[in-house]
Amino acid sequence: MRVALVMGGGDAPGLNAVLRAFVKRAVGQLGWDVLGVEHSFQGLFPERFAVRPLTPLSCQGLLGRGGTILGTTNRGDPFAFPMPDGSTQDRGGELADAVRRLRLDGLVVVGGDGTQRMAHRLMTGHGVPVIGVPKTIDNDLGATDLTFGFRTAVDVATEALDRLHTTAASHDRVMFLEVMGRDAGHIALESGIAGGADVILLPELPYSPERVASKIHKRRALGRTFSIVVVAEGAVPRALAEGSLRERRARIDAGGGAAAIAREVLSPLVQAEMRFVVLGHLQRGGSPSPFDRILATRFGVGAVDLAAAGRWGELVCLRQGRIEGVPLGDAVQGPRLVDPSGELVATARAVGIELGA
Ligand code: F6P
Repeated sequence: MRVALVMGGGDAPGLNAVLRAFVKRAVGQLGWDVLGVEHSFQGLFPERFAVRPLTPLSCQGLLGRGGTILGTTNRGDPFAFPMPDGSTQDRGGELADAVRRLRLDGLVVVGGDGTQRMAHRLMTGHGVPVIGVPKTIDNDLGATDLTFGFRTAVDVATEALDRLHTTAASHDRVMFLEVMGRDAGHIALESGIAGGADVILLPELPYSPERVASKIHKRRALGRTFSIVVVAEGAVPRALAEGSLRERRARIDAGGGAAAIAREVLSPLVQAEMRFVVLGHLQRGGSPSPFDRILATRFGVGAVDLAAAGRWGELVCLRQGRIEGVPLGDAVQGPRLVDPSGELVATARAVGIELGA
C-alpha cells in the first residue's frame, strides 16, 4: 500500500500525533509507503510540489509537539483556487493527476469541515480514494463525538479563567475572556463551566446586554464585587444578531472582536472597571494534552485500519467511546452547534451561570 497524508485548515494540537501514529502503524508494522504532503493540498500542485516520505524515524519526538510538521493552510481551496487576476479556478483534476503520478492507493486527509468537503469532492468528482480524519479545536463536526485539540483548548481557556479570577477579584473588575468558536460555542461553554464563569456568551444564543448586566448587579448585591464573562468569538448581542453569518462576522471583526463588543454594550449598563483578554491562537498552539495525544493516536491508527480494510470514502470518528468509520458524505452535512436546550446548557444555568438569553 502506498498512501499520502494531507492536512488542511487551521492547525490543532494533536496533528503531529495523528501523523506519528499513522506512520508507526502503517510503515513500522505493515510495511506501507507513506508520504507527507506539505502546505495542505497545495503541496500537490506543480508550482508548490512538496511531498516527502515519512518514516518512524522521521516521526520521532512528535507525540507532544504542537502544530504540524507538514504545514497547513485554510487558504487556497483547490476547487476555487484564487488566481492572480482575481478569478478562481477548479484545480481538482490536477490533484487527481498528482495522486496518479505518485502511484498512490489513496489520500488520508486530516482536516475540519471544509477540508473534508474537499476530500469528498475529490473522491466523488475525480475518483480519488480518500479517508478522512476529523480535526478542529471547535469540536463542531457532527460525525464524531470529539475532535482532538478541543480538550487542549478547553484546558488552556480554563487555566486562563483561573488566572483571571484572582486579578478580577483583586481589582473588583468585570473581566471578559474571548475564546475561539465563530459558529459553535463548545469551547466557551465547557471552559466557562470548568473555569467558574459567571456569564457565558455563545454564538448560538444572541444575548441581551440587560440580562448580563442584571447578573453582574445581582452578584454585587451578594457582595461579589467582580465578574467573569466568557465570550465565544461568534457571540453577538441581540441587536447585532440579525443578518447573515458573513455580515455578523464582518461586524464583529470591524468592532474589534466579540469581547470588545460585549464590553462596549455593557459599559452604559454597569458601573465597573472592565477589561478584556482575547485568548486567540494560544488555544491552538503548543503541546496537546494527554487526552488529545491519545485521541489523535486512536484516529491515526483508525485511519490505517480503514485503509487496510479498503474502506475508502469513510471518516474516522469517535462514537460512544469507540473508533468507527462513517461515510464521508454523511459526515459533512453541517456543523454540530451547542444545543441551547441540551443538558450542558441546562447544567450551566443550574449552577447560576447567565447565558444572556
Ligand atoms: O476552526 C478553528 C478556528 O480556530 C476557529 O475557532 C477560529 O475562528 C478560526 O479557526 C481562526 O482561524 P485563523 O487561524 O485563520 O485566524
